[in-house]
Amino acid sequence: MADTLTVTDNRTGKTYSLPIVDGTIRAADLRQIKVTEAEFGMMSYDPGFLNTASTRSSITEIDGDLGVLRYRGYPIEQLAEHSSFLETAYLLLNGELPTAEQLSAWELSIQQHTVVHENVKQLMEGFRYDAHPMGMFISTVAGLSTFYTEAKNVRDPVSRNNQICRLIAKAPTIAAFSYRHCQGYPYNYPNNKLNYTSNFLAMMFKMVDSSYEPHPVLAKALDILFILHADHEQNCSTNAMRAIGSSEADPYSALAGAAAALYGPLHGGANEAVLKMLAEIGDVKNVASFIDQVKLGKCRLMGFGHRVYKNYDPRAKIIKRTADEVFAVTGRNPLLEIALELEKIALSDEYFIKRKLYPNVDFYSGLIYQAMGLPVTMFPVLFAIPRTVGWLAQWAEMLEDSEQKIARPRQIYTGHAVRDFVPIAER
Ligand code: ACO
Repeated sequence: MADTLTVTDNRTGKTYSLPIVDGTIRAADLRQIKVTEAEFGMMSYDPGFLNTASTRSSITEIDGDLGVLRYRGYPIEQLAEHSSFLETAYLLLNGELPTAEQLSAWELSIQQHTVVHENVKQLMEGFRYDAHPMGMFISTVAGLSTFYTEAKNVRDPVSRNNQICRLIAKAPTIAAFSYRHCQGYPYNYPNNKLNYTSNFLAMMFKMVDSSYEPHPVLAKALDILFILHADHEQNCSTNAMRAIGSSEADPYSALAGAAAALYGPLHGGANEAVLKMLAEIGDVKNVASFIDQVKLGKCRLMGFGHRVYKNYDPRAKIIKRTADEVFAVTGRNPLLEIALELEKIALSDEYFIKRKLYPNVDFYSGLIYQAMGLPVTMFPVLFAIPRTVGWLAQWAEMLEDSEQKIARPRQIYTGHAVRDFVPIAER
């Protein structure tokens, strides 16, 4: 017998049998539950989508209890150790690791698109001197849709693939221009002799010395951080990408919306909050009293806890290792001692153990970025560059999914019943 869920409606005494597929019932199956034929039927209420699967997806798998993160079945630890960001991007978008030939062709197709139209540069020059880089990134990505008008043909796989390459290639260029803009420095054009992350660092930091090349250890560390941030299934910004894309808006407009969702402090801004917290603690000797404040509910230990992971975030483990390699080049970030002491105390404290609070990806990433000379305002932009790949993979999957429709949730109306307009003199 097929798996079913039997529901009895006490209002009518009727019993309904709802099919269970992949551990879920279809919300639309609830609609048959009604008292009178004229009714709309039962809905489910789930603010924040805490318990609603919005899609089937074969891209990224997370097991929060076990601390597992896999892209297309490959454990994140193996990808971080053996893959490159662009190879991982290919995997996320195409479902399989590339052959050597496919990888060279893919890298070339990204390199061909790293330059932006001069008018894009001029557009960015129009921002105020103190504009936030993320605001510039979001607006400029949206602006790209006016340069590639064929992008609106979202059902055309050839056009889709072109826009995917353009977005992945241009994201670091726009990100670096946004940084240079707020520093008041001239923009550096891409150097296609460098790999993806080295090119990004060169566009960020090259000054008058045209032979500047980033330290390979730092470029490699950034490549690993980009792999770790490339996708994380149906989070807030990915959901925004899919929702906007579901109206068949072009991918530049959809991706600008996804980046806007990432901008919020509850999503892409936590690593900045960690640095602020560490600076406020100020010294290892203050850690124990800070933990006491956290336990009294006066503040949160930023960079700890996760909606999905109830175990050590697998990305945090990799980042911690990467931090040691970066600090060997840059010198130790003085805030690291405080972070290590916080982690040590928290992991052995009953309060954190009971609530399954472990370090998340953001606990150490800000320390690394800061040691590499990347300013705090760039942190969400640094997240958006690699996540561009995940957003695009999820967007393409959504368009190919025959079950998907325009995203249009329902509501429970709590306002007034019908009432007559009152002339202004009588109010
Ligand atoms: N410090 C102290 N206590 C915490 C923390 C924390 N960082 N996180 C959760 N708790 C406690 C809560 O007070 C609550 O305790 P209670 O049961 O006594 O009331 C319990 O743990 C459960 O917390 P919730 O807020 O219900 O957990 P939720 O899943 O909603 O929140 C979140 C997850 C937002 C990430 C939370 O852990 C948090 O605020 N962490 C700090 C911010 C942070 O690091 N965010 C980055 C997340 S990773 C990312 O977005 C890329």
